[in-house]
Amino acid sequence: MNNNDRVNFGSRLGVVAAAAGSAVGLGNIWRFPYELGQNGGAAFLLIYLGFVLLLGMPIMLSEFLIGRMGQANSAGSFKQIAPNSKWSLIGVMGVIASFLILGFYAVVSGWTLEYVVQAIGDQFRNRDTATLAQVFTNFSSNSYRPLLWMFLFAVGTYFIVLAGIKDGIEKSSKFLMPMLLILIIALGARSITLPNGYEGLQFLFRPDFSRINSEVVLGAMGQAFFSMSLGMGCMITYGSYINKKNQLSHTVIEVSIIDTIIAILASIAIFPAVFSLGINPAQGPELVFITLPSVFANIPGGYIWSIVFFVLLAVAALTSAISLLEVIVAYFVEEFKIKRQKAALIATIIIIVLGTLASLSLGPLKDVQVFGHGLFSLFDTISSRILMPLGGLAIAIFTGWIIDTDKIKAELSNNGKFNIKYVPVFLFLTRYLAPILISIIFIHQLLS
Ligand code: TRP
Repeated sequence: MNNNDRVNFGSRLGVVAAAAGSAVGLGNIWRFPYELGQNGGAAFLLIYLGFVLLLGMPIMLSEFLIGRMGQANSAGSFKQIAPNSKWSLIGVMGVIASFLILGFYAVVSGWTLEYVVQAIGDQFRNRDTATLAQVFTNFSSNSYRPLLWMFLFAVGTYFIVLAGIKDGIEKSSKFLMPMLLILIIALGARSITLPNGYEGLQFLFRPDFSRINSEVVLGAMGQAFFSMSLGMGCMITYGSYINKKNQLSHTVIEVSIIDTIIAILASIAIFPAVFSLGINPAQGPELVFITLPSVFANIPGGYIWSIVFFVLLAVAALTSAISLLEVIVAYFVEEFKIKRQKAALIATIIIIVLGTLASLSLGPLKDVQVFGHGLFSLFDTISSRILMPLGGLAIAIFTGWIIDTDKIKAELSNNGKFNIKYVPVFLFLTRYLAPILISIIFIHQLLS
């Protein structure tokens, strides 16, 4: 593809909005709180923040850099930068990861749609936590209702990706994300003031270091990759749409801050309520879907709030799903010369099949276990605890050791126009720290 033909994100705000739209999603509001709850609270948060700083930010910058230099999809960019090498396999692995992630992501996104409808039907009012938990279990283990929502969500994502980069992704992210932020802050304010809410804050902010083990560390690393959309070519693909005038380092900082703040704010909205209502913080994937409806039941105007919240959560899921689907579509279109429509259609069909398996694994297919995991949790585990860190490892090594340092400097400074004093730190992180850290965690996990 000729570089000049490539679509670009329109404005600077558009770049940040689209990348933040990818990063901010169910990972922040659904996955982060339940992982934190299962992994001991504040200690997990602390380790997570370390990973964002030491792995997440340099790898996000590496991905943007690779994409903008290569001007192609997640595999094609490697081919452009290092022709005749095997590095493009990282991109292929990323496409596989995209499918697996979307397989369960579409299911949970479907849940958010169900909860929009429940909110509209005023289903949370006057229900205690035990009842709300029962409602969730009945719904998610039902054989057809979650499938219907998953299907709807996947088809919606398909249509938006078809509309193309600029129109579909950029416009929708720009005003909806700030709305979500405001709503979460308001929810947090309510949650903290519930009786015993401070216990939740303690759980969240007062670390108990005895809770740290290799499982917690691996979980925090996987969560950082998942939440920041890293390690599988998503930000490479988006990087290829960023124009040369954008200062990539600034975009990385902005996106990382937004993503981290939303995850923390979501936890502030959730954990005080968890402790106040006597919910088990290690409940698992259903945590948010039980806790927040209970909070809504306790807020004046909770009816409206709950509708707006679940609508915005569905939108946040959508902007993330779009970025995941875009990885696959860009790859099919550019590497196999398939038309965009056809590529998106094939991908969506595969996603619906995987989504069906993931969804049914919580109900009728509960007994199908692979490596001790049901399919839903298998897709999640393979992608976030294996493929993404592996991809991140390879991306860091590629950036630190393969790309020519002068070319990195030229790309990041837009040929000398921007200040790039941070580059030595960046190179240290990609060359040494990130590869060593990820390897140690992997090896430790294999041995334990
Ligand atoms: N980061 C998104 C979230 O937090 C999910 C997501 C989008 C993602 N693109 C990704 C996760 C790429 C891993 C890789 O919900």
